[in-house]
Amino acid sequence: MGDLDRSDPASLEELHEADRHHRAVRDHQVGIQGRQQGHQVEAGVRAPMEREIEAVDGDAAGLEDRRELLDPRAGESGVDVGCGVGHLTCELAEAVGMSGRMTGVDASADMLAGAAARVHSRRLDDRVALREGDATATGLPGESADFVVAVQTYSYVPDIAAAIAEAARVLRPGGRLGVLETDWDLCVYGSPDFELMRRIFDGRWRFEHAHLPRRLNRLFADAGLAPTHAEAFPLLETGYDPDSFGAGMLALGRNAAVRHGVDRAAADAWVAEVRARGEAGDWFFCLNRFMFVATKAGVNARTGGPATSA
Ligand SMILES: C[S@@+](CC[C@H](N)C(=O)[O-])C[C@H]1O[C@@H](n2cnc3c(N)ncnc32)[C@H](O)[C@@H]1O
Repeated sequence: MGDLDRSDPASLEELHEADRHHRAVRDHQVGIQGRQQGHQVEAGVRAPMEREIEAVDGDAAGLEDRRELLDPRAGESGVDVGCGVGHLTCELAEAVGMSGRMTGVDASADMLAGAAARVHSRRLDDRVALREGDATATGLPGESADFVVAVQTYSYVPDIAAAIAEAARVLRPGGRLGVLETDWDLCVYGSPDFELMRRIFDGRWRFEHAHLPRRLNRLFADAGLAPTHAEAFPLLETGYDPDSFGAGMLALGRNAAVRHGVDRAAADAWVAEVRARGEAGDWFFCLNRFMFVATKAGVNARTGGPATSA
């Protein structure tokens, strides 16, 4: 992956684009039933950042499953690494209640500005702190958090072992780490040319770690964390909607592929054919994301309770 440059402007824009797409999916997910059976995604892929910040309540349903797996409790302190515009940070802040605390950490000042607006509009300023920082060096005190969550963040972090070690450092004994990531090999279109689809959606062109879920338990163990839970969240689209996540991903994949040497005309023809098939009633898109949870050994000295798993 030495030829990949994720620091160029296109890659940066892609990161923000990815967040918008990710948000659109979350906006339309329907919780446990949806993740087990798959479901249609409806609209809103290209919502501008301003609209997203205003739409503070739009994704509550999609966040339930993540919250459930993390099991946040009243009075706990949590950290959201790569918090983006703060959807999950706010949900978790609600869950830990007035006596709890959430800290959102992100490397992007723009994302943090969006998060700050969201926190303020939800009147959570008193229990949410936001800070600019890297996943590998958050600057947070050691053993200060009851849980750490990183949703679609670690796939962008070059030194993933350092990022997970940092989360382990910040966790109190008994604390939980929840990581949600996509395996980009499990991104499939009903395509007439499977090989070209594979090349266009080669996740290595867009991420430092395109298949992170497969490695998470090993990485957890190396950081001294005990894997406690893993769950899949499939996203399935069987009807074409130009605003769906899968339809939006077509341009994202095509652009990355062309930047990395896939023939432009071939990529454009492939996208056009997939779209045309969709419009003709022949649409299939599926993507798999996974939530992994690990626990730091020990007894929670703050609550006096035993270490618990999520
Ligand atoms: C796809 S977005 C996900 C945002 C959020 N977790 C969510 O699910 O809505 C990825 C986020 O990770 C942040 N990020 C990327 N690399 C990072 C790093 N090394 N340290 C901290 N944040 C990082 C980006 O700025 C962006 O906000």
